[in-house]
Amino acid sequence: MNEAIRPGPETQPQSAVAPRISVVVPTFNERDNVNTLYRRLEATFAGIPFEVIFVDDNSPDGTWEVVRGLARADTRVRCIRRIGRRGLSGACIEGILASSAPCAAVIDADLQHDETQLPKMLALLQSGEFDLVVGSRYIEGGSADSFNRQRAGASQLATEVAKRVLRVKVADPMSGFFMIRRDRFEQLAPQLSTQGFKILLDIVATAHGELRVKEIPFTFGTRLHGESKLDSMVALDFLGLVLAKLTNDIVSLRFLLFAMVGSIGLVVHLATLKIALDVFSVPFPHAQAAGAVVAMTSNFILNNFLTYRDQRLKGFAILRGLLLFYLVCSVGLVANVGVAFSVYDQEPIWWLAGAAGALMGVVWNYAMSGLFVWRK
Ligand code: GDD
Ligand code: MN
Repeated sequence: MNEAIRPGPETQPQSAVAPRISVVVPTFNERDNVNTLYRRLEATFAGIPFEVIFVDDNSPDGTWEVVRGLARADTRVRCIRRIGRRGLSGACIEGILASSAPCAAVIDADLQHDETQLPKMLALLQSGEFDLVVGSRYIEGGSADSFNRQRAGASQLATEVAKRVLRVKVADPMSGFFMIRRDRFEQLAPQLSTQGFKILLDIVATAHGELRVKEIPFTFGTRLHGESKLDSMVALDFLGLVLAKLTNDIVSLRFLLFAMVGSIGLVVHLATLKIALDVFSVPFPHAQAAGAVVAMTSNFILNNFLTYRDQRLKGFAILRGLLLFYLVCSVGLVANVGVAFSVYDQEPIWWLAGAAGALMGVVWNYAMSGLFVWRK
């Protein structure tokens, strides 16, 4: 029998103390930070029963191994290791849903958030006056001095957009540091987006002012080890979240990106067709076929890079995905032409028929790509 799974003599009595607070820590490449965070949480919650749930997206640096070590030594620690998925919001949602205390906090692993505020946040929730307590950089007493100018500007712009467009009343809806009553969270959870970075904004926007929110100031510190995972692409996530919330989740950024890539594909198709005809004097049917293949290929690459960057296909899966994508698009073309014909039959307006066909094609390609090519 494997040494590691042999039963040990040390069957200890189960702890009878239920946690009063669950702390959820999303991690990606935070190997050098998790021990320090755990020790600080332990010190902060002296006397308060708590649990910590790390949600790690299979970090290449093996963060999950370090967390597992902690969990072996202390049953208050748990490790959720997700494979094949990426995303801060999704990790937080999963962590909160896996927790058991009546209140759940989300805190970054890199020690930029001030964990000493947690007992105060808990007391505010336990008073029964609030549903959500936000650690805020943008109220009196809070600050984000560690931001460089570019990041500070981007953060402020996003905050302004969120406040105006989504009519969010919170001063710092972009904060990643907050505590919420789990019953309220669970009511909202089915409507939350698992994509992107902005879980708090999503929570507040989805609740439509129904949550009683308290903000407390904190100073956003500097990262202990490692580097930030926010890249320029998070602007896209933000835009997507705003759009989704504005349209009550009808329009998703993924669909808009997919449609945008599709339009680029049309340009690529026409350019290839023209080059094949004029430069290489290829007969029209062959030139048209070449245009289609080049356009489908470039669409696939762009979608893999942009639209589905959180589920990006890598290595051998790329080839398989590309072939499936060709198949999906070919059927999409048949659907496109079919719809265009039947519309034209009823109402011989060329642009209406053309547009209806194109819309049908893009909806089909989008739905089928999500099912077969970049499936979860
Ligand atoms: N599981 C998981 N999956 N965790 C992630 C992922 C992911 O894809 N991306 C980032 N994290 C974890 C990091 O390991 C870290 O613990 C935390 O989420 C925050 O990520 P950072 O990369 O440190 O983000 P930041 O410091 O640039 O941004 C912070 O400040 C923003 C406010 O401007 C975060 O707190 C954001 O949530 C916050 O909006
Ligand atoms: Mn950080």
